[in-house]
This record gives sequence, structure tokens and C-alpha cells, in this order.
Amino acid sequence: MDFDAFDRVRAVRFVHAEPPFALELLDQRLLPHTIQYVRCTSVPEVAQAIANLTVRGAPAIGIAAAYGVVLSALSHALRPIADAHAAIRADCATLNAARPTAVNLAWAITRMLNCLGAEPTDSADLGHVLIPRLLAEAQAIHSEDLAANRKMGVLGADLILPGSGVLTHCNTGSLATAGFGTALGVVRAGVALKRVERVYASETRPWLQGARLTAWELLQDGIQAQLIADGAGAHLMAKGLVQWLIVGADRICANGDTANKIGTLAHACAAKQFGVKVMVVAPSSTFDPHTAHGGLIHIEERDPKELLEYSGVRVAAQGVQAFNPVFDVTPHQLIDAIVSEQGVWTPGR
Ligand code: MRU
Repeated sequence: MDFDAFDRVRAVRFVHAEPPFALELLDQRLLPHTIQYVRCTSVPEVAQAIANLTVRGAPAIGIAAAYGVVLSALSHALRPIADAHAAIRADCATLNAARPTAVNLAWAITRMLNCLGAEPTDSADLGHVLIPRLLAEAQAIHSEDLAANRKMGVLGADLILPGSGVLTHCNTGSLATAGFGTALGVVRAGVALKRVERVYASETRPWLQGARLTAWELLQDGIQAQLIADGAGAHLMAKGLVQWLIVGADRICANGDTANKIGTLAHACAAKQFGVKVMVVAPSSTFDPHTAHGGLIHIEERDPKELLEYSGVRVAAQGVQAFNPVFDVTPHQLIDAIVSEQGVWTPGR
């Protein structure tokens, strides 16, 4: 398929033609009404951009953090090599702490640390040897993600019967990855290969990744989709409009339990009730073989204001309290297929 024809948006780019090098992030807090890139030239700026969702989506935050390590090395380039190593390691810890649930962040940092190497030697040259090596590693993480997404798109679309309706949740597209997307990549490929006839995107309260990001992203690529309220998913399934629930992942445990955006579990339970199949689409960077099951995953809780306010305006009565977990865990028994670039896994069987 002609991948580029269905994939025009890019959320992360690294500018290194001439100094100062910079990580440019499409500001996802402002979409869809304002298209503006935020320029980060330091580790604190990258960590803040990850924490405040300027950049979001599991693979995209891993890619941003990898470039953050390059910015770290650049900022310490003039220090003695052992001091520079220690400072880069400290910066890696700062980046890693920016968000807890998506394992892609720790995965990318581990790759960058392995590339940095364990023991600095006097002959190690940060400027001429290590920085180009770190930049090449970050670029590899970036380009491998795009290749994985394209592969998963076709693998996942192959599972869908022509004429199907699909429901996706949150944003798993080019905005959340190096490009093409995970679950949204399958939707893109499914539409291009004429297997998917109806696309529904749930709004994804409270941050509205579905309404603000997925609907906009699909519009850029000329893919017809209908936005639905999160609570409407079960109704559409009961009516026979949806044959596959297709979602991404932030962490897939050894047994297949999958953490993803809050609301995924409710959609998966409804899917089970109405005979709708559930597909999780994620690159191998999202797999966490060290976590045995979903009960062990750290679920991020964000500011209650995300629920109590809308666009900075209070909507709940003053004095009301809110609890805002932003991910949930879908047990592997509810999942029909986990698609990665390495193939299709059916953990429930
Ligand atoms: O809080 P977010 O917007 O970073 O959450 C994103 C999701 O839950 C996505 O579904 C997941 O990261 C997969 S993105 C390819």
C-alpha cells in the first residue's frame, strides 16, 4: 500500500543541521485548533513536555526521551568524561520519571544508556564519538518505530473481514508514534485495503485524545470517521455496527494483560458481551516481560482538574473532589489478538 498517502502528520522531529540542536514537538495540548511546535533544547524541557502531554502516546514519549538523552550529552560535552557520564545518567533518571505507565519510556532510556556504555575511559571522546553514536541510536529508535507501525498495520488489517466496522479509543496514530500509528495504523491499512467500512473513535475523557487528536488526524488523511461518546461504545456494539475494537497499549505484561488509556477496559468488557473481537496493536518496545501480570502495573493518576474543569473553566461544583486514573488494565482473557511487528499473539488461548 502507499503508506504516505494515508499518513501526513508528524509529532516529533529533531533538528540537527546546525547548532543549537533541538527537539521539536507538535503541541498536543493545543490541537486541533492550533498547530504549533514546541522547541526543547534541554533535558528539563523534554521531561516537562512529556509530563504535561505536549508529547504523548507510548512510542512517541520513548522517541522524545531518546532525543532528550542526545541533548543531555550535548549539554555536558565540555566536562571531564567521567563527570559527563554521571550527569547524563542523572538526566536519564529525570526523563524516565516523567511518566510512569508506558514502558516505552524506560525501554528507550535503557537503549540509550547501553549505547552510552558502562565505564567511561580517558580515551572516550564525548564530542566526536559518543554524541554521534547517541544521535544515531535515537534516530534508529525513531525510524524503527515507523517501520514497525507499517508492518503491524498490514498484519492487523489482514485479521479484519471486508465490510467491518471498527472502534478505536484514545489516540494511537502518527501523533502518538513516529508515524502511521499502532491501532490507528491498522485502521489506516484496513481502510486502504478496503476491509474497514466504518470507523468510530471514542472521545476519550477527560483529556479528549479521541475527539481532539484522532478525529483531527484522520481528517488530515481523508479517512471518514465518526466521533462517539465513550459511553456509546457498548450501544454501537449491541447494534452490530462494530466488529473489532482496536486499541494501542502502554505496557503489555508477560501474560498479555494490557495497560492502555482509561476506558479501554469498559470497551473490552462490552466487546466480550456482544461478540466483538478485541485487537491490541503495539510494537515490541511496549512489551514488558519483567511484569508478570497487570495487577503489578503502576497506573498514572493525573491532576483532578482534568475532570473538574473543561478548558480551564470549572464545570463541577466548587468543593467536589475527583479521582483521575488515566490508564486501566484489560485482562488478557478479553483480548483476541495482540499484533506486534513480530507477528500476531493470541494470549487468551
Ligand atoms: O496519556 P496518553 O495520551 O499518553 O495515553 C496514550 C494511550 O493510552 C495510547 O493508547 C497508547 O500510548 C498507545 S499509543 C500508540
